[in-house]
Amino acid sequence: MCGIVGYTGKLQAQPFLLQGLAALEYRGYDSAGIEVLSPDGSLHGVKCQGRVATLTQRCQTANLVGTSGIAHTRWATHGAPSDRNAHPHVDCSGRIAIVHNGIIENFRELRAQLIASGHEFKSETDSEVIAHLIEDSWNGPAKGDLLEAVRIAVSRCEGSWALAVLCADAPGQVVCARRRSPLVIATTPDGCYAASDITALAGKAKSVIQLDDGQLAVLNPQGTCSVFDEDGNLVAEPTTMTIDWDASAATLGGYPDFMAKEIAEQPEAIRRLLKDRLGKHGIELDELTMTDEELASIDKVYVVACGTSYHVGLITRDFIENWAKVPVVVEQASELNYKQSVLVTDHTLCVIITQSGETADTLTAARRLRGLGCKVFAITNVLGSTAARESDGTLYIKAGPEVCVCSTKAYTAQMVGAAFLALRLALAKGKMTQAEIEKKYHQLEEVPGLIEKVLGRSWQDKEASRVFRRAHSSLFLGRGVNSTTAAEGALKLKEISYLHAEAYAAGEMKHGPIALLEPGFPVVAIVPQDHVHDKTISNIQECIARGATVVGVATDGDEDVAPLCSNVLWIPPVPDEFLVPLVAVVHLQMLARYVALDRGYDVDKPRNLAKSVTVE
Ligand code: M6R
Repeated sequence: MCGIVGYTGKLQAQPFLLQGLAALEYRGYDSAGIEVLSPDGSLHGVKCQGRVATLTQRCQTANLVGTSGIAHTRWATHGAPSDRNAHPHVDCSGRIAIVHNGIIENFRELRAQLIASGHEFKSETDSEVIAHLIEDSWNGPAKGDLLEAVRIAVSRCEGSWALAVLCADAPGQVVCARRRSPLVIATTPDGCYAASDITALAGKAKSVIQLDDGQLAVLNPQGTCSVFDEDGNLVAEPTTMTIDWDASAATLGGYPDFMAKEIAEQPEAIRRLLKDRLGKHGIELDELTMTDEELASIDKVYVVACGTSYHVGLITRDFIENWAKVPVVVEQASELNYKQSVLVTDHTLCVIITQSGETADTLTAARRLRGLGCKVFAITNVLGSTAARESDGTLYIKAGPEVCVCSTKAYTAQMVGAAFLALRLALAKGKMTQAEIEKKYHQLEEVPGLIEKVLGRSWQDKEASRVFRRAHSSLFLGRGVNSTTAAEGALKLKEISYLHAEAYAAGEMKHGPIALLEPGFPVVAIVPQDHVHDKTISNIQECIARGATVVGVATDGDEDVAPLCSNVLWIPPVPDEFLVPLVAVVHLQMLARYVALDRGYDVDKPRNLAKSVTVE
């Protein structure tokens, strides 16, 4: 969370800094700020609570002139969202400015030491200590060398950081540092650009430098960049990454919001992922980097993830247990990290699922499982992300940039990735034949077309959204794989419409949540034609008997469902009931969006959330 950008070069800094912040705004939007080195040799900045659009307006009158600068969009951790807690933060002299993404865990003791030695703080943030630490080393052992001053300063810090530093007495330079929070740099004839992720650099360069943990970089206005390790030694060959998508992938392209765009992109994303996967191993999954023998020996799978990706984890369990017959444990990463005992075998595979590849909880969980001897396989959307770099094997789902904070296309594409893993394991373990796997693959190939049909029925979701107009709470019910669809539907609704939604296994409702029901209470029931269809119908009856208003998600032609529901969100028949979640969820994504729009909310940037949750 938090997005940082920096620039030094021939051009005016402000346009890129504001445009870069806008591209990174999904990382946090509590406040935004910019600092530029003016031709008069002093730092000038603007910062304010609120969105990048507010900052942009303020900059119109501030007239920030200068060819080097840094900027920040914040997701508050330490200190409330406010003007004074907005980044950049400056040292006592006002000649050193920093922007920071991460958490300085020992900031309290550092702050106390700095105050004792005469520093004055202006904010409540952990980040401000960095500016004062740099001030100390700049005036002390670094003797006016900005790289050395930053290197010494961060060596006193614990925690995580992606950092960009501007100093009025080191004109033209921007110094960056990274530990556990991502940072990429583009070198171009116009100068050097730095950003938390490549979304801000689209169109600037075809490849970027990715700082590794502990590294620092000096960006020069001539468009050159030198990378150093934590001891200050030059790194001869920094890690680089090719940007394989064009800038238009991160623009609205005629859609009213990114959520609408990303929901609509699901069929194409899945088609892309399915391409050229069928082969002699059933599903070809070289990304696993494991031999048939190694795969055959796997006797347990540990899946860790957060949020929507955790829901993919639950579906992964269904796929693997049913197809490959291997027991699976699924844990929310933040829970696994502090469990007293985590039980793995000598042949446990750890699977991490993370759209961003930067979720701190998930990365910590993966490190713990790796420490216990597990091989780690990542399913992620972001090329070169920390998850990918720290795993033994990585499947990129290639869904393209997901800008909306609320995850949609990554959810369905990650499920397809999980199906690949389950089918590959099933063949290696002799639980499915090549012919059975081919059949499953062809069923997966039908999914994009089925989703397209659902997309064409968005009017059903718009009509159903009216059911939620006066609601204060809601219940989402489903059985089997679709208890997860219910969970994902409830999460979507909560996060963008701020309407409470609880998901429950339909059969479990009578053991408690049924007490919530009263006339008009909205219940969303996922009741496709599957082996638990009639059982779920009984649960719907129980809701109706208590006056609830039921919105059903049902299979075309199901005459049992329509008479029970105020609205039905129809899905076409799906060839395998395990694949229903891929199709049914699309209605729930659209339903959540319409409810949020009806309430007048910004669906792309829901309050309090950030896309990439890089703190624990
Ligand atoms: O990038 P990740 O998949 O690791 O992110 C995990 C969650 O933070 C994320 O899925 C979150 O729950 C979304 N906002 C849900 O829409």
